[in-house]
Amino acid sequence: MPQSATKPFIDVLSGQRQTIPPMWMMRQAGRYLPEYREVRAKAGGFLDLCFNPELAAEVTLQPIRRFGFNAAIIFSDILVIPYALGRSVRFEVGEGPRLEPLDDPAKVATLATRADLGKLTPVFEALKIVRGGLAPEVALIGFCGAPWTVATYMVAGQGTPDQAPARMMAYRHPEAFAKIINVLVESSIEYLLAQLAAGADALQIFDTWAGVLPPAEFARWSVEPTRRIVEGVRAKVPDAKIIGFPRGASAQLPAYVEATGVNAVSIDWTAEPAFVRERVQSKVAVQGNLDPLVLITGGAALDRAIDDVLANFAQGRFIFNLGHGIQPETPIAHVEQMLKRVRG
Ligand code: CP3
Repeated sequence: MPQSATKPFIDVLSGQRQTIPPMWMMRQAGRYLPEYREVRAKAGGFLDLCFNPELAAEVTLQPIRRFGFNAAIIFSDILVIPYALGRSVRFEVGEGPRLEPLDDPAKVATLATRADLGKLTPVFEALKIVRGGLAPEVALIGFCGAPWTVATYMVAGQGTPDQAPARMMAYRHPEAFAKIINVLVESSIEYLLAQLAAGADALQIFDTWAGVLPPAEFARWSVEPTRRIVEGVRAKVPDAKIIGFPRGASAQLPAYVEATGVNAVSIDWTAEPAFVRERVQSKVAVQGNLDPLVLITGGAALDRAIDDVLANFAQGRFIFNLGHGIQPETPIAHVEQMLKRVRG
């Protein structure tokens, strides 16, 4: 018999609970790893690293080699879609992303209607290299940002504390804002399909700023565009496995799950466990939700928090992860402590 190529991570997304939950971490390739900082320093800018297939594949594989996670996530960024739409996208050291703001209807009229996916060929090349370097039981995750979250950066031209520019634009100029969202929906479908074709086993849609919208706006700008992406991907790949991450959606998680058709939701650390078990995990798999700050803390506080996450969710379909990305100052020993405790 050949070695089984079963992937525990994919099995959970297919509805089969695993005795030991598969695990990975959001932002697992990143600045908390010395080997990442070394590659990052020789790559030049952040986008130069994203668009260098060999180096992007190398940093994608680094956390798998070091920790043996059950899934790798391709090293890239949600803002490569605006880049493929011809917008200027830069990452300033220590400041985060800078784009040309798209904050009035006249500017939106100049927005390309289709992304040039040719500009993202290096991402697809990197996926192929990573696939070749992964053991068969390790899953490879492709991703995109949800249209709402990507739009918050496109409208403001940068990260903002409360996403006010995009929220204002959605109220003031709903038609122009809808045009941005529609272009992002179509581009994201094509981009996700191309990632599947290049070797991704599953997809995650990051909606980091879903939690700042009132319910009706959440339904219109976060849920509905995500539903269209899931539908568009499944029109070509019917069994595509898709995880949604509507960060901060809290009481609206059940509505999100029901409407979008995702196979799993990633939850942040504020989610109410009994509510999530009864209303969400009864329908789809759940991924999460250790507070990244307790991973920085370590020690007994970390052990307690891990035990709580396991007690809350590990009786059902569950993927162990953080509630958001790992922070650069996190000690590597604490990641090792977490792996040991979850698997032990
Ligand atoms: O998870 C992974 O390991 C895969 C890689 C990944 C990155 N960004 C690499 C990255 C993923 C999945 C993302 C998604 C992303 N990018 C999101 C959604 C998830 C989230 O974290 O909320 C968002 C909102 C972005 C946009 C973005 N990219 C911002 C706001 C910043 C600057 C803030 C920061 O952490 O520096 C980035 C830069 C970025 N993307 C870095 C990494 C590793 C740091 C840049 C560096 O190494 O110099």
